[in-house]
Amino acid sequence: MYKNVPFLPLAVIGIIVAALTAGQALLIDWLPPADSEQAERTFTLLWFLFWSSLIFFVIVTAVLVYAVWKWRAKDDDLEDGPPIHGNTKLEVVWTVVPSIFLIVVAVYGYIVLDRNEALAADRLNVDVYAQQFNWTYGYPDAGIETGTLVIPEGRQVQLNLRARDVIHDFWVPEFGIKGDAVPGITHKLWITPTKQGTYPVICAELCGVGHSVMRSQVKVVSAKEYSAWIARATAGVKATAAASAAAATLETAPGDVAAGKVVFEAKCSGCHAELGAKAGVGPKIVGTKLTTDELRTQIKNGKGAMPGGLATGTDLANVVAFVESIK
Ligand code: CUA
Repeated sequence: MYKNVPFLPLAVIGIIVAALTAGQALLIDWLPPADSEQAERTFTLLWFLFWSSLIFFVIVTAVLVYAVWKWRAKDDDLEDGPPIHGNTKLEVVWTVVPSIFLIVVAVYGYIVLDRNEALAADRLNVDVYAQQFNWTYGYPDAGIETGTLVIPEGRQVQLNLRARDVIHDFWVPEFGIKGDAVPGITHKLWITPTKQGTYPVICAELCGVGHSVMRSQVKVVSAKEYSAWIARATAGVKATAAASAAAATLETAPGDVAAGKVVFEAKCSGCHAELGAKAGVGPKIVGTKLTTDELRTQIKNGKGAMPGGLATGTDLANVVAFVESIK
């Protein structure tokens, strides 16, 4: 019964369909370069799916187009077609072949996912915080936070995605991977970058008016540069801590009452009238029961309608000394 199948016209139609489909695949730059191990595997799987789908698409389309053309009704033909009862052999073939293909795809997909998520013992942990509308990266081992993600080439990085407000989505196209940052849960992503360079981090989930500008960068550097960067960043954090410790020392040093009176007149007497002897917008200060520490804390942090930070460092020590002298 297959003797009459016209292979030549089918082959011609098939070649045309294949050329048109393959042209779309080859002429358009669909994917960014695969710059992580995960992207290499994922993109290879994607192309495997594409080319094998193309084979099935060409076969089905060629037969369909040929049949539509060959057995079309003549203009004056108003009869019903002859009753046909199917073809068991053909039906078995078009059920079994796609089933086998789907099993192959499922197994291949499983292998890719399993390898992409296999944990390396020396993986680097980075916390990713998403919030309207920026990204912050925390390095728990080094105790630092940055606005640019810096990671070493060739080492697996575990990104712990967290959202501080609404749902965002961390996406680096070249890494072939993206993941939602959802409030209340930690979503893990694994990336093993294979090429040094700077890549865009894009928020891929509509998260508010600033969604389209919620971008940041990831820098992939050599292992050596990474260690140097971590050392510099850690030193920076220590220097900042030392500076605030020095400021705290100034604040708790014994203050000068006369200098404190000048500060009080400039910053405080608008609310605490007559150098604190009378209530204005703020309460009277003479007679306060606050201890020295409480005074200092309240001037630093503010309380109720009183703003914090009106006096800092030596000014703070002096104004505390003045208030102590009148209370
Ligand atoms: Cu964050 Cu879109």
